[in-house]
Amino acid sequence: MAKQKLYRLAPATVVEPLVNRWSAWANLISPATASLHLLRHQLTILRDYLEDPRTHARLARDPEFAGGPFADIPVSHADQVRELVLETERQLVDNLRFAESIVDYYNWFVDEARGQALDSYYTNLPAEMRGYVELVYDYFNQPSIRFFEGLLYQSKYYDEAIQSLRLFSLRSDHERTFFLSTPRLKNQAEVDWEVAFADPRVDELFRLDLRPQPLQYISELLGIRTGDEPKLLPLLTDECGGPAEPWHGSSPRLKYFGHACVLVESAGISLLTDPVVGSRPEADGLKRFSYDDLPEKIDCVLITHNHQDHFVLETLLRLRPRIECLVVPKSSGHLFGDISLKLLGQQLNFKQVVELDALESLRLTPEVEVIAVPFLGEHGDLAHSKTAYVVRASNELIMFAADSNCLDRRMYEHVRRALGPVHTVFIGTESVGAPLTWNNGHLFLRTPTREQDQSRRYRGCDAAAALELLDALGAKRVYNYAMGREPWLEHLLGLGLSDDSPQLREGQELVQRARGRGFLAAESLFGQAEIFLDERQAPDSTGKSTAAANAPSAAQTSDTEDQFVF
Ligand SMILES: [Fe+2]
Ligand SMILES: [Fe+2]
Repeated sequence: MAKQKLYRLAPATVVEPLVNRWSAWANLISPATASLHLLRHQLTILRDYLEDPRTHARLARDPEFAGGPFADIPVSHADQVRELVLETERQLVDNLRFAESIVDYYNWFVDEARGQALDSYYTNLPAEMRGYVELVYDYFNQPSIRFFEGLLYQSKYYDEAIQSLRLFSLRSDHERTFFLSTPRLKNQAEVDWEVAFADPRVDELFRLDLRPQPLQYISELLGIRTGDEPKLLPLLTDECGGPAEPWHGSSPRLKYFGHACVLVESAGISLLTDPVVGSRPEADGLKRFSYDDLPEKIDCVLITHNHQDHFVLETLLRLRPRIECLVVPKSSGHLFGDISLKLLGQQLNFKQVVELDALESLRLTPEVEVIAVPFLGEHGDLAHSKTAYVVRASNELIMFAADSNCLDRRMYEHVRRALGPVHTVFIGTESVGAPLTWNNGHLFLRTPTREQDQSRRYRGCDAAAALELLDALGAKRVYNYAMGREPWLEHLLGLGLSDDSPQLREGQELVQRARGRGFLAAESLFGQAEIFLDERQAPDSTGKSTAAANAPSAAQTSDTEDQFVF
């Protein structure tokens, strides 16, 4: 009897999680932010589109307005948008009322509360908010409202029925529209799977990356109707691939997957920072590591902060069956936009979710430990949770600073005193940064002034600040990363960068100046790279990373002040 063919997801297949047809990100999961985003961003864009679809369709494709609030939907699809709006207003009426209550009550409350006792104010709360909030002051009698996020996940404001997975084959890296401005309308050619993200069947789908299955098994899992199999087959392959063999070398091996995503392997233990993994498009794209380059088991995922390019649900869900422990920054629970990634991770059925606060550590083995260290800046001066990490592997200390800004070098001196010199540092130079309200506008219940919006940008280090950080830590190797240059980040960041963009020039200056100071390694990472901290353990014995294999691309767009990554 012929052997049954076994299939896994094809290299070009993307499985995009959706919430009510919008690409999912953390703020669409947590009920308060999701409700506010729905009311104050998504519906606003869609209604505006319906007023003038032609202008939206044109401006969404204009590089000058990239990342702006314009839906990239052809005029011929306006009826579908109208249907989505009507269906949203009907199905999510409770979320919309909840959001309206928050806006109205909060605005009234901050003017009303002047230091007097707040007991009686609970009776004034709108019905939609009752039982879900606490009214509090800080020590200066500034009022605010704390939300009980855990209770909200159990309420009518969290509806798993609006979650789904969209499976499609990526033709080119540039085809994905910006996640904040364009919903994913139903497309008959694609496979839509209406399934809650927490559903164990989602893990079954993604286990195909590890253990291929017969077509019928996959078809039944996805509930593919008879006759619809032709839609499924192009998403699958019967060719071998992955997972990667784990690294058992005694000195760490690092694999750069793009942006802030680095796989650290040491003595059989694997850690992955800010996972964002690109599928390989059907048309040739930039060379990259993909899902088949990751090991079967990822002991620890380290999340630095809740920006859409660092907490990437699409990649996290796909890797969920492999992830043993998800480490997230500790949320204070004070600002409603500072959502708890721990609660969110638990809600989405990750096996274990651990919050780390500054200088708290997680020891995985006697040789491998993760230590959270402070992350200054890049959040518009909002007290939202964030953390950098130092990974101790063998005798190496490696810092993943992501978008940290060295606003006070003394902090890094304190870290060095506490942990010892940190010889290897991964740091971004996103020195421009997005305006304050770019993707957080729904959190500001009173619109900030233009001056506030422009001055409180989400900016990280420039070259000078990064060198201060390196100097304070006693670093000998620096890798400039998290620059949003890889094309598989485009739909998350909304903007192309050219080699002439200020933040990339800062990165080049950082590398040059570090080399001038005699660093053992100083490189800008782009695409993919493999790094061996102990040169003797590199397979070709050169000890050099492969970062140079992907030279910076030629200029793609013009340089404007508004180009940034987040
Ligand atoms: Fe970032
Ligand atoms: Fe960021």
